[in-house]
Amino acid sequence: MTDSLHRIITGATAVAGVAGSPIAHSLSPIIHNAWIAAADMDAIYVPFSPPADRFSHFAEGLRGGAVRGLNVTLPFKEAALSVAHEIGERAERAGAANLLIFNEDGSIVADNVDGLGLLGALVAQVPGFDARKGPVVVMGAGGAARGAASALVMAGAPEVRLVNRTLARAEVVAGAVGGPTRAYPLDAAERAFADTILVVNATSAGLASDDALNLPLEGIPTGAVMMDMTYSPLITPFLSKAKMLGHPIVDGLEMLMRQAEPSFEAFFGRVPPQSVDVRALCVKALEKRAGAKPK
Ligand code: ATR
Repeated sequence: MTDSLHRIITGATAVAGVAGSPIAHSLSPIIHNAWIAAADMDAIYVPFSPPADRFSHFAEGLRGGAVRGLNVTLPFKEAALSVAHEIGERAERAGAANLLIFNEDGSIVADNVDGLGLLGALVAQVPGFDARKGPVVVMGAGGAARGAASALVMAGAPEVRLVNRTLARAEVVAGAVGGPTRAYPLDAAERAFADTILVVNATSAGLASDDALNLPLEGIPTGAVMMDMTYSPLITPFLSKAKMLGHPIVDGLEMLMRQAEPSFEAFFGRVPPQSVDVRALCVKALEKRAGAKPK
C-alpha cells in the first residue's frame, strides 16, 4: 500500500463501498482507493460485511445517500435486487445486482456491471474479440454463469451453450436468460465445444485443488478464447491448461477491474484516472496473500 492512500477524511468525504460476506479477500477497496488517491478526490471506498441474514436491513439503512453506492458481492447479489426500487435491464437479466446506487430521494437503483466487466476484459486481453462471431460456451449454472450468459446474449452471441454437471440447473438458467441459450450436460461438452469461439469457466471447480474440472478441453477449437471468472490464483488450473493448449486467455482479475470502472463512474460521476496501475497493485496483493497461505 502506498503512502498516498493514507489520506485525511473530511466532513465532506464521499463514501462508497462493497458489501459481501466474507469481504476481507475483496480487491475492490484496493482498486477504488488507488483511483481516488490518484485523482486526489475527497472520497473513500470501504468494505462492509453485514450479517448474512441482515443485508436488506443494512441496505435500507443507507437510503437517502449517506453512502453514494455499493458494489455487492457474494452472497448478497440476489438480495440486492430485492431491496431496489428500480432495476436496470442488465440486473434483471442477470437475476442479480452487483451495484446499488442510493439516491438522495431515498430510492435505491440496482444495476449489474459484471457483464460489462466480462466483455471489457475480453476486448482488453484479446483485442478485436467479437462475441457476435460464433457460438460461445459458459461452464456452470450458478449466479456467475447466469451473469456471463446474459451478458453474452446482450452482446449478440448467436448461441450460448451452458454446460453443467447438473443438467437441470443449466436448463433453469437457460430458460431464465432466454434468447439463444441452450443447456448441455457435462458428457456432451465435446459437442458444445465444437466451433465455439469462447469458453468461459463460471464454475467453482478448481477453487479447491482437489475439486478440479475434469473436461475434454483438448476439443476446444484452436484460437478459441478461454476465460476464467475467478482470479485467485490469477492463473487458475483452467487457464494454465488453456495456456498449455495454446489458447488466448482472459483472467478474472481483468474482469474485476473492468466492472470497477463503471462502478466508480456511478459512485463519483467521473471516469477513473489512467495514471495508476491498479492491476499491478492487485497482482501484488494476490501474491502477498498466496505467500501468506500455510503450505
Ligand atoms: P456461483 O453462484 O458463484 O456461480 P454456485 O451457485 O455454487 O456458485 O455454482 C457453482 C457452479 O460450479 C455450479 O454450476 C456447479 O455445478 P452443479 O450445478 O452441478 O453443482 C459447478 N461446479 C462446482 N464444482 C464442480 C466440479 N467439480 N465439476 C463440475 N462443476 C462443478
